[in-house]
Amino acid sequence: MTTNFNYSGLFIALEGIDGTGKSTQTQRLASYFSALGREVVLSREPTDGPWGNKLRESATIGRLDAEQELEYFLRDRKEHVENLILPSLHGGKVVILDRYYFSTMAYQGCRGFDPAEIRRRNEEFAPRPDHLFILDIDVETALQRIGHRGDKANHFEKTDSLKRCRDIFLTLVGESFVHLISAHGTPDEITLQLIDFLEVEK
Ligand code: TYD
Repeated sequence: MTTNFNYSGLFIALEGIDGTGKSTQTQRLASYFSALGREVVLSREPTDGPWGNKLRESATIGRLDAEQELEYFLRDRKEHVENLILPSLHGGKVVILDRYYFSTMAYQGCRGFDPAEIRRRNEEFAPRPDHLFILDIDVETALQRIGHRGDKANHFEKTDSLKRCRDIFLTLVGESFVHLISAHGTPDEITLQLIDFLEVEK
């Protein structure tokens, strides 16, 4: 099957390490477009589908091995693209995602895979968003926000891996569809920054 990536909708993804406030901002963007009279589809990855649920379960019952984890994220995304993302974009809707394949580059990149290779595999089936917002924050603040506790070794490990994830996200900055947003501001300030970029384009 060749996938038709030409669509009439608008495709927006928000990315960033845990604790950057992506969920709040995706909801606010959804309200913004609804108020403009647009049909909005708000979704997230991992999804609530079978592969996404397995991934969520693994977070509580023991992490999958790296290879299997990567495969599950890819399968989850393939279903998401086929069943929801592309049909909605072809229907002219605004699709807003809380995490997308850039999270795979960052998080599975941290587990040892080559981020560029992960991107290539994803872009074979997953359309590139019109706008990718990277909500950026320093790792210590992010960990405070998500209330990370744990012993020193655990804290060090988490800090180190989130730093590497953040660095991978930041490698995307400079591409024309990517917007870097400081997530240190208040929720209102951040929403205004996002809308500023979108209004310029309208
Ligand atoms: P979840 O609790 O659902 O979301 P969030 O942290 O955004 O509230 O957990 C998502 C976790 O999955 C998060 O730590 C990032 C990770 N993840 C990957 O490792 N690879 C991916 O491709 C995606 C989409 C998420």
